Amino acid sequence: MTNKKSNTNATEILKKSDLVLLDNVQFIYELSLAELELSSLGIQYKTTNGLREFEILNKSIDTIELVKTKSSYFKTVDKFYTDYYHIIEKNTTSSINQYLTHWIYPYKGKFHPQMIRALINIIGLKEGDTLFEPFSGSGTTALEAQLLGVNLIGIDVSPLCVIQGKVKTQSIFAFDEILSLKGKVTDSISTNLFSIEKNYYEMLDDLTENETAKDFYKLARLVAVSDNSRRNRNFSTSFVKNLDLMIKSVKFYLEIKDKLELNLGNISINIGDARNVDLPDNSVDGIITSPPYSIALDYVQNDEHSLSDLGFNVSELRENFIGVRGNGKNKLNLYNEDMEKTYNEIYRVLKPGKFAVIVIGNATYQGNEVKTVEFTIEYMKKLGFSLENNIDKIIFGLYNVMKKEHILIFKKDGSL
Ligand SMILES: C[S@@+](CC[C@H](N)C(=O)[O-])C[C@H]1O[C@@H](n2cnc3c(N)ncnc32)[C@H](O)[C@@H]1O
Repeated sequence: MTNKKSNTNATEILKKSDLVLLDNVQFIYELSLAELELSSLGIQYKTTNGLREFEILNKSIDTIELVKTKSSYFKTVDKFYTDYYHIIEKNTTSSINQYLTHWIYPYKGKFHPQMIRALINIIGLKEGDTLFEPFSGSGTTALEAQLLGVNLIGIDVSPLCVIQGKVKTQSIFAFDEILSLKGKVTDSISTNLFSIEKNYYEMLDDLTENETAKDFYKLARLVAVSDNSRRNRNFSTSFVKNLDLMIKSVKFYLEIKDKLELNLGNISINIGDARNVDLPDNSVDGIITSPPYSIALDYVQNDEHSLSDLGFNVSELRENFIGVRGNGKNKLNLYNEDMEKTYNEIYRVLKPGKFAVIVIGNATYQGNEVKTVEFTIEYMKKLGFSLENNIDKIIFGLYNVMKKEHILIFKKDGSL
């Protein structure tokens, strides 16, 4: 092949690239999700340039606008930057996934937000629909739903998780109050660390009646508590540094909301038990969640320092946490029983014909593999779900350790 010819080919490819993937898209499962998302948005496409670029076959103002405002894996569409590209630029951390307020609090087992945005689109949720998240955790699904204008009802048994979800999604509505309290809170931290340790939460009650601002400052303290107990960092230095970053992140969120004219979803996150959900039958338009993966990870122990700091009795809390109840073989039986109750509830509250996405992996407990994925598929099918997609999410983490999870997309039988 002559140089001239290959140059011509290169130009043709560039001309046809209506869609270019973001640089961070590396894994096969991400490409699968990108393609499923395009199909759900009604885009007909052809891949070009070694699967990193796409040509839109039904190109119109409407299809371009849809990809620009909704998609999750593309950097540009028809030479415009996508909204998601602008959103991930608003990042105070060095981790590409921890943009806006996602990074606040080092919670173990966070979802990948980009994947959640894609899944919301893949299951066909639109602005004004309601998504339910029975294991809200650090609030990843909540923030992504909010950005896409989808309403969300989230529950978690952990009060720490409820605070995280609220702070990430509600602080933009209390930004002025948050700013006005900053000086008073930091002054008292630096003047007397010991007394602030003792009276911090009472002091917040005295300073403001705004619950959102209070939650913000509670979590600011817990980020520092966690830094101090896990990484041995100085409490007050960490507090001041993280508080500044938290404020900057909320400011970034407000800026991007205005710049992209986002119509945010309504978010409600509360303490709740996934085994016994306070929602009517057939009431939600979709579910995206990730339950505890069997009995391998002790979520209570992980966050013990923060839960105790908030004044909770950790052993009482344990009684309602799935995956940590009981001992030995009984522990696994309890886990299975709890998850059956949870799946019954997921079936009950979801509207017929709608989708429930469960992200889950097999766990290893005392050297044995616990087949949580197979258990989930079998039980959900028994309830009346069909398994529409089972996407292997294989990633290599730190030190090249392979992690395999499954993205299970179930559809509830029937239609409303
Ligand atoms: C895998 S984590 C979810 C992480 C979440 N996807 C995220 O991005 O942060 C599982 C969550 O289940 C919660 N959990 C455990 N038992 C529960 C119960 N009975 N009801 C509701 N939530 C529960 C834990 O507190 C934990 O936050």
